[in-house]
Amino acid sequence: MNSPAFRIRYGFEAPECEPQLESLLAHRSVRRYSDQPVLPSLETTLKAAAQSASTSSNLQMWSAIQIERGEKRDRIADLCAKQRQVQTAPLFFAFLADHYRLASLAPDRAERLEFTEFYTMAVVDAALAAERMVCAAELAGLGICYIGELRSHPEKVREELNLPRGTFGLFGLCLGYPDPSRPADIKPRLPMNSVFFSDVYDADRGIGDYDERLSQFYREQNMGDATWTQRIQDRLGGPDMGPRASQLEDLRRTGFAKK
Ligand SMILES: Cc1cc2nc3c(=O)[nH]c(=O)nc-3n(C[C@H](O)[C@H](O)[C@H](O)COP(=O)(O)O)c2cc1C
Repeated sequence: MNSPAFRIRYGFEAPECEPQLESLLAHRSVRRYSDQPVLPSLETTLKAAAQSASTSSNLQMWSAIQIERGEKRDRIADLCAKQRQVQTAPLFFAFLADHYRLASLAPDRAERLEFTEFYTMAVVDAALAAERMVCAAELAGLGICYIGELRSHPEKVREELNLPRGTFGLFGLCLGYPDPSRPADIKPRLPMNSVFFSDVYDADRGIGDYDERLSQFYREQNMGDATWTQRIQDRLGGPDMGPRASQLEDLRRTGFAKK
């Protein structure tokens, strides 16, 4: 079967796509949700899907805090640049790098967790778990949006979520059935051969036709017509990093990446 999602991603037809994989290719961030509740049984399955992800040496160095809609969620949304989807999503999880659990099991050996390698493992574990929850959610018809803004005010997030030393809020995840009146579109990606190399890195590969395809996408969305190159230059040339500039100190203060 031809994959409509593949064509939008890359601008040409896929040679072939197994129909059961189409939903994986059709991901798009969804920021507006319908009122349809997510059944508790599905919620449990989504959590099991997250925990079914591979995890470095089975150390399972991540946790997620589910935050119901209400005053606490509103305060978290405020800390996440007041993003509306954080406030309104039927389900919201704050994903954490978590060394606390391991440190409590081996308190006299917990110093080892201060190596940056253990931080990297925790981040990878958390991202894999979240993305597996995302894949399951999208297969079940939900839409999702990650929230990196959770890292903008780490101290306030720490206080709000009662985070112990050895934990760090990495990102949020909003989930809910998409609002059919506000459909989200599939966003083109870099050409496959700009990202996938053979045997060695090819520093001359470039980004192919991506500038044209992405600026056409944004034009169609009435979101300007800047190319990807311009957006990258704007992103990297912005005034400063804001509150995230002190992330290394924040991490070290809580026991991560000290050596
Ligand atoms: C770790 C992470 C953090 C993100 N943070 C935000 C966010 O704070 N707000 C938002 O609206 N989208 C956020 N996004 C969504 C990205 O902007 C989006 O995935 C990207 O533009 C590609 O679009 P697509 O997901 O629709 O394909 C985040 C994505 C990731 C992976």
